[in-house]
Amino acid sequence: MIRFSKVRSESFTGIDDNDLERGFLIMCGIFGIMTKRTDIPIAKLIREGLQRLEYRGYDSCGLAMANNGTIEVRKKAGKIADINKDGLFDSMQGQYGMGHTRWATHGPPIDKNSHPHLDCKNKVAVVHNGIIENYQQLRKELTARGHTFRSDTDTEVIPHLIEESLAKGISFKDSVREAIKYLTGAYGIVVMHADTPDFMIVARKESPLTIGIVPGETCFAASDIPAFLPLTRQALILDDDEMALLYKGKVEIFNVITGKPRTPKPFQVQWSIDAAQKSLDGVEYKWFMHKELHEVPRKIKDQLRVPQEQLDAFAKTVMAAEHVYITAAGTAFYACLAGKFQITKFGGPYIEALLCSEFRDALPTMPPKSCVIAVSQSGETADTIEAVRYAREKFGAKVCSVVNVQGSSITRYSDNVIITAAGPEMAVASQKAYCTQVTALTIVALRIAELKGTVPKADVAKYRVALEKTVDVTNEILKNEDKIKQLAETLAKKQNFYFLARGLSLAAACEGALKLKEISYNHAEAYAAGESKHGPIALIEKGFPVVFVAPPDETYDRLIGNVQEMKARGGTIISVVAEFDTKITEMSDYTIRVPIDNDKYAIAMSAVPFVFPLQIMAYFASDFNKLDPDKPRNLAKSVTVK
Ligand code: G6P
Repeated sequence: MIRFSKVRSESFTGIDDNDLERGFLIMCGIFGIMTKRTDIPIAKLIREGLQRLEYRGYDSCGLAMANNGTIEVRKKAGKIADINKDGLFDSMQGQYGMGHTRWATHGPPIDKNSHPHLDCKNKVAVVHNGIIENYQQLRKELTARGHTFRSDTDTEVIPHLIEESLAKGISFKDSVREAIKYLTGAYGIVVMHADTPDFMIVARKESPLTIGIVPGETCFAASDIPAFLPLTRQALILDDDEMALLYKGKVEIFNVITGKPRTPKPFQVQWSIDAAQKSLDGVEYKWFMHKELHEVPRKIKDQLRVPQEQLDAFAKTVMAAEHVYITAAGTAFYACLAGKFQITKFGGPYIEALLCSEFRDALPTMPPKSCVIAVSQSGETADTIEAVRYAREKFGAKVCSVVNVQGSSITRYSDNVIITAAGPEMAVASQKAYCTQVTALTIVALRIAELKGTVPKADVAKYRVALEKTVDVTNEILKNEDKIKQLAETLAKKQNFYFLARGLSLAAACEGALKLKEISYNHAEAYAAGESKHGPIALIEKGFPVVFVAPPDETYDRLIGNVQEMKARGGTIISVVAEFDTKITEMSDYTIRVPIDNDKYAIAMSAVPFVFPLQIMAYFASDFNKLDPDKPRNLAKSVTVK
């Protein structure tokens, strides 16, 4: 029997269930407990563990508890503490169980899309972190064979696949293994079976999964170590394509494809919970910002998976408009500058970029058939919401948004939404969100080029490959971050900076200057390089640091002139250049070398590779200046006042 206790049918977002799209997840927290102990409050421990994972996502949550051959699920949209206020989770009974805290990236965070998900017979429960890319096909086939789906998620195909094998008399373990073989995409899963009280199963591919052990007594399955840290310090990390059976204090690991077993060798975790929350792939970072910068390559990779139908709807709305505006605040506005440049360059419409706080003053009236692209990490910035509502409600403009928080206010005022894959961003100054925003807008630019035929199809494919390569490029940059650190420490005490660039890279210059100002408190101004001789140059004297963002694109030769002007007046030249650069390198006092390929495709995709080192430099300058980069003074993560 299943009991969906007190689960509301309406969504907290106000979106009707019928409007649902699918419910993909990229960043989530999962936690399961299998124990011999009967004297501990298992549901409460799961709930507490999930709360320690809320930095991974917090828009909805749920628990499944196995109790004498039945599975009870309670799940709901909202934060764990709010939902559990009256003990909804803590009061659950059972011998073993698991839970999930969700960060939806596609499809609104509503009750029925919350995890855990069940099979038709309510015997198998699954929690999942990742994306099942072929879920639509699997769902179609399963539905045709009589399965009933209760959510819009990709995850729900997993319990139904397991159910099919179980029905054929295959063991629980082999049924999970069989199901996994059908999945393409990324997953970290925990599976439990109502009639198999001795063990639960975990498996992973690309999404993280750790196991905690109290030998001979308890096993924990979690997407990250903080979940079980107060309960045990003995941990194991599951590798890709591995599956593990978690017994009461014993673990069996084997490879899903070969079936080969691996002897578990637990290690002792030394971290505090705070340190564990700031760790990634076993590396402990001092600040969330540093950890989040290290997440950038994988977040770009996730961003490349924008669902085709979302992308097409977005691109077509922009193409159908006669006037297109793009608006945002702060870092998101600089993502707009890069995005607008790319969309226009690849043959899309000319786009006017307006700060959201200036939007209505700049546009006392708007022409018909207008479209506003709004970009926001939080989806809650008051000025961005106001701009969007003004355009939509007063002038009937279409709204397309690029937002990191599913179900946020801006998504509710939008006709089309692309959700960025940054996941929760803890550091106040946005950085990984910026990289995913620019990536998302570049994908839109390429899709418009394809749909309009402004760029040959074969070329679009090559640009796309180059964009995919930014994953490797940003990884390489991180491998050499010590060089950026050295440079940051050399410059950290300088009081004033200019950041200069042309064209697409002006966005990087603006973002680089903003980041340095925000978290290291150095005064930094960004200018279009050509404009620098109309005023800014008056301040240049010996040793004044001038940062040039200098990819070898169509602006390069003109930028050389600007470098010379600054150098001639004694400026210290710091340039961000391609690895193969020679000319600007020779003129520079310091260079940051970006490992991009020497072809037009890679060069056109320079927006993220050339800004990323500047974000890293700002971080190291802040740390060197003994500041808190996660919570800079006077700043807020989400500015909800006008
Ligand atoms: C604040 C944050 C920035 C962010 C800006 C816009 O100023 O500190 O990091 O870029 O708001 O926020 P949004 O959530 O709309 O991207």
